[in-house]
Amino acid sequence: MPGKVLLIEDEERLRRVLQLVLQDTGFDVKTAPEGGQGMELWQAWKPDVVVTDLKMKPVDGMGVLRFGNELYPETPCIILTAFGTVTAAVNAMKNGAYDFLTKPVDHVQLVEIVQQAVAEKSRREGCIHEMVGQSPAMQALRQEIDLLASTDSAVLICGESGTGKELAAKAIHAASQRSSGPFIKINCASIPRELLESELFGHKKGAFTGATQDRQGVFAAANGGVLFLDEIGDLPLELQPKLLHAVEAKEITPVGSSKSFKISLKIVSATNQDLEEMVQKRQFRADLFYRLNTMILTLPPLRERHGDVKLLALHFVRLFANEWGKPVPMISPDAIDMLEAYHWPGNIRELKNVMERAVLLCKGEEITCRHLKGSIRIKTEHAEKTNDSSLDLIAKEQQMLLAALEQCNWNQTKAAKKLNITRSALRYRLQKYGIGKK
Ligand SMILES: Nc1ncnc2c1ncn2[C@@H]1O[C@H](COP(=O)(O)OP(=O)(O)OP(=O)(O)O)[C@@H](O)[C@H]1O
Ligand SMILES: [Mg+2]
Repeated sequence: MPGKVLLIEDEERLRRVLQLVLQDTGFDVKTAPEGGQGMELWQAWKPDVVVTDLKMKPVDGMGVLRFGNELYPETPCIILTAFGTVTAAVNAMKNGAYDFLTKPVDHVQLVEIVQQAVAEKSRREGCIHEMVGQSPAMQALRQEIDLLASTDSAVLICGESGTGKELAAKAIHAASQRSSGPFIKINCASIPRELLESELFGHKKGAFTGATQDRQGVFAAANGGVLFLDEIGDLPLELQPKLLHAVEAKEITPVGSSKSFKISLKIVSATNQDLEEMVQKRQFRADLFYRLNTMILTLPPLRERHGDVKLLALHFVRLFANEWGKPVPMISPDAIDMLEAYHWPGNIRELKNVMERAVLLCKGEEITCRHLKGSIRIKTEHAEKTNDSSLDLIAKEQQMLLAALEQCNWNQTKAAKKLNITRSALRYRLQKYGIGKK
């Protein structure tokens, strides 16, 4: 598992040598000669791990460490310190450094520590990507996730677009016995049909034109961990028997190979389509459907998670303010009301986009309705003129539009076809509701 390493060191020769050592191990390395430039690079490049000298001018390693703690607490920072300055190193550890190395730097040890730190980063991120929410629906969801994670059975996650299906899959991985194994995702809808089989099961060199070397598929990559099959409803019918076999027999055969091999993994799949209906229409194999959904997790739409909108909004404001290096603004009571009144056809993803935009627009200390209006004008405007049942219809329509657009990667021609309306009819509706890709 290579990663991005930022190396901050004022001694030019040492900087060059350590860079080469790390690059030889497969890390992507960028360097800076002192803390100030290091911090700029940190912000621009977002490394996985930072290795920094302590004594530098004008900005020293402690300055770098403080900066990281504040803005990128998930990024481990390793300190390099001159022999005999243990107190400084201890001090750095107290201030949140991940580890320290004394000079002259042992190259083997450096590589080992950096590798551990990369793993630590993804663990910390797992915690940061924690599922926010205290609504009864959310609490039930957490319990279900723990239950689903405790067995090795396949799980099918259903839910509208943007409800957190992928996040739930990651949470299942994190809570399972396989958490130290990999989490590998494949999106069945975004990979061209002719490449999908090889992406899933791998191929042998020469199996088809362009297969210039052996390649591992996602099943093999996920061995020992969790394989997340996203948009499973888009898996072409002709590939379904092979997937069924892989899931049932826990055994795969790469394209162009006569040898099969055993794998051990947990399968989590997700869809926002109605698979049962697809089975009835013979668009999805019944046997595969029953295999994948031994256990089923249904994510509630955001409008049913009472109380979570506010918590999520505050969470995203903090997240984006940190990301953009701005002080964290508050959200005015009016703005909270506006957020809570909205229907959220695009669910949590939509709320996340709205809050990112608000953080960027907000120049003062508080996010107000003004910063939200452009993005969630839709429902509140109609709310004044329409009654509840037509509001539901409007919300449904918005939801259908968004779902179709997401599924077609925002290609309007395809989305219109999917919705069975003309392209200009689609355009008119998008304008009416102010829907656009954010
Ligand atoms: N409970 C939550 N707390 C915090 N963030 C969340 C939560 N649920 C979802 N998110 C965030 O919302 C966004 C959408 O979530 P995710 O990608 O998991 O949804 P999805 O159901 O897979 O959507 P789609 O059907 O469009 O693929 C992500 O950025 C995710 O991190
Ligand atoms: Mg998804």
